[in-house]
Amino acid sequence: MQDLDRIRSEALAEIAASQSLEQLDAVRVAALGKKGSITGLMKSLGAMSAEDRKAAGAMLNAARDEVSAALDTAKAVLEAGALDSRLARERIDVTLSARPETQGRIHPISQVMDEMSAIFAQMGFEVAEGPDIEDDFHNFTALNIPQEHPARQMHDTFYFGEKADGSRHLLRTHTSPVQIRTMVANKPPIRIIAPGRTYRCDSDMTHTPMFHQIEGLVIDKTTHMGHLKGCLMEFVTTFFEVDEVPVRFRPSFFPFTEPSAEVDIGCSREGGELKIGPGKGWLEIGGSGMVHPNVLRACGLDPEVYQGFAFGMGVERMAMLKYGIPDLRTFFDSDLRWLKHYGFVPFDVPTLSGGLTR
Ligand code: DAH
Repeated sequence: MQDLDRIRSEALAEIAASQSLEQLDAVRVAALGKKGSITGLMKSLGAMSAEDRKAAGAMLNAARDEVSAALDTAKAVLEAGALDSRLARERIDVTLSARPETQGRIHPISQVMDEMSAIFAQMGFEVAEGPDIEDDFHNFTALNIPQEHPARQMHDTFYFGEKADGSRHLLRTHTSPVQIRTMVANKPPIRIIAPGRTYRCDSDMTHTPMFHQIEGLVIDKTTHMGHLKGCLMEFVTTFFEVDEVPVRFRPSFFPFTEPSAEVDIGCSREGGELKIGPGKGWLEIGGSGMVHPNVLRACGLDPEVYQGFAFGMGVERMAMLKYGIPDLRTFFDSDLRWLKHYGFVPFDVPTLSGGLTR
């Protein structure tokens, strides 16, 4: 028992000197473990007389409790210190940009279709879809383009093989068949846009066999051409993100609209730079008009009751004008350098509140 005082004060000194949880645990094992110094003294109690045991036992218990309490306190201090240093070490600067930088880019076609959809959605248009593989009825006949109509030749259609009944499926030459599908399936009021792929057997500097259009259709009982013009004027200023874009309606012909108009927007070309806005020039951006009574009739709507407007625009053209992309064919080259240059960061989803482009 003479050793107890020394063992006790050595253990307390070692506890006080411990720098880490590992060191502290080593002290605990050396004093209180199975083969520890204090445990060893406990074992020697059995060989003592009852009286000696009582006195020695009380001293041993007190020493053990004291060492044990000192261990607990030191452990708590070391643990708190370990947490503090870990927090300091793992501090993250949330103002740093993400690493590595996002690699993928949104293609300008997808971006522009998203931008257009956001603008028309704000005006109350829904997005409608139709199949790329169409039939004659939806792509032509119901749109007031009968069998021998010259407009069929103008469309340079890709046809599939003839079926037993002589009919052929085709790749839609415009997004206008979505008008038909929408009017057949829904009662007015109708207010939709239909962005999507279109196909024509045509390939040169300014044509690709696959391209994109966005179709618009509004049908109710009172919509007139003034609404069409207002709608497109609102659209172009929002889309091009400029204060003023002059809009001109040029009389034209489409079988599915009467009257029909081509839509031009104002531009200037100074120092070789094309700028959308007031200026001397005009750029065509699409076709439009009041839906032809024959089209309404083909969809089972009474033209004496219902009327409305339609429009169609080329998506590549809008992308080229807005983002200064000079060559149509580069859209479909799948050149990663091009995509890196003209593409958009995936997190910058176009919205009217957050901004179409950032
Ligand atoms: N479908 C026409 C085309 O591809 C574009 C178009 C013109 C659509 C006038 C329309 C419209 O809805 O009213 O050339």
